[in-house]
Amino acid sequence: MTTLLVTGGAGFIGSNFIHLLRRERPEIRIVNVDVLTYAGNLENLKDVPLDDHYRFIRCDIADNQALKEAVDEKIDAVVHFAAESHVDRSIEDASAFLRTNVIGTQVMIDLARAWDVEKFVHVSTDEVYGSLGDEGLFTEETPISPNSPYSASKAASDLLVRAAVETHQFPGIITRCSNNYGPYQFPEKLIPLMISNATEDKPLPIYGDGMNVRDWIWVDDHCMGILLALEKGKPGHVYNLGGKSELTNMAVVKAILKSVDKPESLITFVTDRKGHDQRYAIDCSYAEKELGFDRSIDFEEGLKRTVDWYLENESWWQRIKTGAYLEYYDRHYGKDLSE
Ligand code: NAD
Ligand code: DAU
Repeated sequence: MTTLLVTGGAGFIGSNFIHLLRRERPEIRIVNVDVLTYAGNLENLKDVPLDDHYRFIRCDIADNQALKEAVDEKIDAVVHFAAESHVDRSIEDASAFLRTNVIGTQVMIDLARAWDVEKFVHVSTDEVYGSLGDEGLFTEETPISPNSPYSASKAASDLLVRAAVETHQFPGIITRCSNNYGPYQFPEKLIPLMISNATEDKPLPIYGDGMNVRDWIWVDDHCMGILLALEKGKPGHVYNLGGKSELTNMAVVKAILKSVDKPESLITFVTDRKGHDQRYAIDCSYAEKELGFDRSIDFEEGLKRTVDWYLENESWWQRIKTGAYLEYYDRHYGKDLSE
């Protein structure tokens, strides 16, 4: 049986990836390594039984020794999601971003080399390319030019993977994706924050003039792109993944208000994010040609499914807002799952 180690599997994209693997590749054994920061939520995986095909290990990926001891089995491949992921937090304090995103990635590379893995997919972001004006798209050849501590730490991690490929013939593959949305996204990010605030008739804070543009992708489509990269990607290659769905933040927020039937008067303009990137847009033709990457749904359908999910699962995000989700690990799993 193939054993795939997933880092950050209790987060937004990692947990959606594990659900997708259970559906699409039930024969794969998954080892999920996650330290459970504020963004890690095991409630995202409550329907995935701990059995021969799924194991959870609570461990910090920046702690080489602890991870080496905890992972006491043969690992065939790695998909590396674990990261500090929120730009605003990185502007407040970059230290956790450097520890997890930079040191943690080097630790994962070192351990993956010791495990002699066949493939290592490093899940990165379009933010490493910086910001676009009104025209143009990021290609895999666009120079890296990050503007926030978060994107700088992700760019550093990409370069560490690249260096391992060149130095050690490491089987590293890098994916760079645009903005994801869908179930289980932590309600600090634009779409879930706006849905939850609108539901509670709270103000919807728009940074600056709301004209910044993001390219939105349904999280399952990103996860499928990662699976394709794992199965068909070539070591040393970078694959851009995107939703082909560019929208201003204002357009996204207005669409959310319409779908939950709340007034636009809830919109509140607030001080802009420092160094706020104006526009991201991805050319993913290389991944389409080489991997067969595609999108299954458009933004209209994806937003409808997302809004429905947040309305049907209000207790999930209410438990985050109250902090109750943090007790899940101790109550359901005990103190040490590496036993
Ligand atoms: P997230 O913040 O929701 O989840 C991150 C997960 O990593 C959490 O479960 C957290 O507990 C875990 N983690 C953090 N530090 C850790 C550490 N030191 N050791 C072990 N686990 C740790 O993030 P996400 O939005 O799911 O993003 C996942 C990956 O995808 C990140 O690498 C991010 O850069 C990348 N990405 C995200 C997006 C997006 O739109 N969200 C787009 C492109 C790429
Ligand atoms: O592009 C991929 C990236 O997308 C990922 O690498 C990051 O991990 C992920 O967090 C996301 O980064 P963004 O900064 O684009 O996402 P965020 O949801 O924080 O913000 C989206 C846009 O909405 C951005 O222009 C800032 C704006 N915004 C955000 C929040 C939280 C607001 O106007 N108000 C808000 O309250």
